[in-house]
Amino acid sequence: MSKKEYILAIDHGTTSTRAILFDHDCRICGISQKEGSVDYPSPGWVEQDAVQIWLDTMAVMADVLNQSGIDPDQVKGIGISNQRETTVLWDKKTGLPIYKAIVWQSRQTSDICDEWKSAGYEQTIREKTGLRIDPYFSASKIAWILENIPDARKKAENGDLLFGTMDSWIVWKLTGGEQHITDATNASRTLLCNIENVEWDQDLLEMFNIPESILPRIVPTSENYGSTAPYAFFGAQVPICSMVGDQQAALFGQLCLEKGMAKNTYGTGGFLLMNTGDEIVRSKNGLLSTIAWQIGDEVTYALEGSIFVSGSIMKWMRDKLQLFDKVSQTEKMAKQAGTTAGVYIIPAFVGLGAPYWDDKAKASIVGLSLGTNRNQLIRAALESMAYQSRDVLNAMERDSGLSIPMLKVDGGGAMNNFLLQFQSDLIQVPVERYKVNELTALGAAFLAGLAIDFWKKEDLSIEMDKRFDPQRSAQEMDQRYQNWQNAVKACQAFKS
Ligand code: G3P
Repeated sequence: MSKKEYILAIDHGTTSTRAILFDHDCRICGISQKEGSVDYPSPGWVEQDAVQIWLDTMAVMADVLNQSGIDPDQVKGIGISNQRETTVLWDKKTGLPIYKAIVWQSRQTSDICDEWKSAGYEQTIREKTGLRIDPYFSASKIAWILENIPDARKKAENGDLLFGTMDSWIVWKLTGGEQHITDATNASRTLLCNIENVEWDQDLLEMFNIPESILPRIVPTSENYGSTAPYAFFGAQVPICSMVGDQQAALFGQLCLEKGMAKNTYGTGGFLLMNTGDEIVRSKNGLLSTIAWQIGDEVTYALEGSIFVSGSIMKWMRDKLQLFDKVSQTEKMAKQAGTTAGVYIIPAFVGLGAPYWDDKAKASIVGLSLGTNRNQLIRAALESMAYQSRDVLNAMERDSGLSIPMLKVDGGGAMNNFLLQFQSDLIQVPVERYKVNELTALGAAFLAGLAIDFWKKEDLSIEMDKRFDPQRSAQEMDQRYQNWQNAVKACQAFKS
């Protein structure tokens, strides 16, 4: 009897790295996860150790195979989804990073961005990349490393330095340094890629003084790129068949394959994406235009609202305030609170992303009284995830001219029934969660499986788990939303 075959998804997010095995029926057959460490060396700075990320990737791959009793050669293809924008530069000869990976949330390049704004680059950048000048994207992080790390520029000039987002880094390691590539979705988040022709843009490289020699080759999102080096994958040479930014992966995993379909992910950050087909929709309301995926020569675009802090506020409450031991406890605690009693938390820990784009905003809590208790704070934190999603949803409806009839959700936060019910009440449309909550990994697996005919498009399916319908009146929720907007304004007015 022939052995069962699998697709392995590596889902590397900011706060955890997972390896997940999927079988032909799109079912999870094994999962291994490691929580990653994140450093905050100065206020607003966020960094990670790229070597540790690679070691975590190896560890979860080994663990998932061991746990499931599967031979490495039963894995027919590997798909990778990754936190986007996070930037590492490494020495081509040693394979060692020359500086920590600067994480997408980090604000340490705010001054560089201010210089680019003053130089009048904003309009050109928007037209070419669909993005805006913000420390969020990779370009200013690359410029910062080239400027601040001794010999970095010299190494780059000698052709000894490579840049990558985490997809490139993991694939370079997995292939033993054979492939220095990135896919179209990840390239579209660097601020260096022209999203019309999906190529590195010479004008932008010149404006930012970034040498092209350090950049990876841009490849489609679903394609056999080459195999793992045997020592990197336990003796087997397995084709790597997808690389995809995690938010685009979730859009694919949610099967939002038609124009107008949208999903919302509550991860470290919060990300609402709408498929806009082959059209680049230019936002007038603070959203981004980005590449959803490239399959063959066909490029699909998306409108995106990026929220910088969503689930990570719960991590902050757990680790820094010690309000609870496990995030899973917060659903009960929020329900016990009954209401927040007028407390609003604006989680602008690293400024505010869409639709405000205020990199100087500081996080704040408003409406406190001497009666405010722990459960109310937790409830306010969960509600902030929903309020921010409504901000973005409203912007998306205005930009697209479409009203979203139902919100498909995923990510860690989607396990929280309180949050999803509150979200549905707040936006007054049903919210749907699926049985496989690992939709980012599933998206990467789907894209990998399609590239090698493990699946045909018609095989792809997901099953609904629970639907949340609005239970509170629009009037009540609009009033609360108005309070939220006032609280955001107060937070933006405060600069320390
Ligand atoms: O753009 C940043 C995003 O890709 C991070 O994703 O999964 O770490 O919240 P995550």
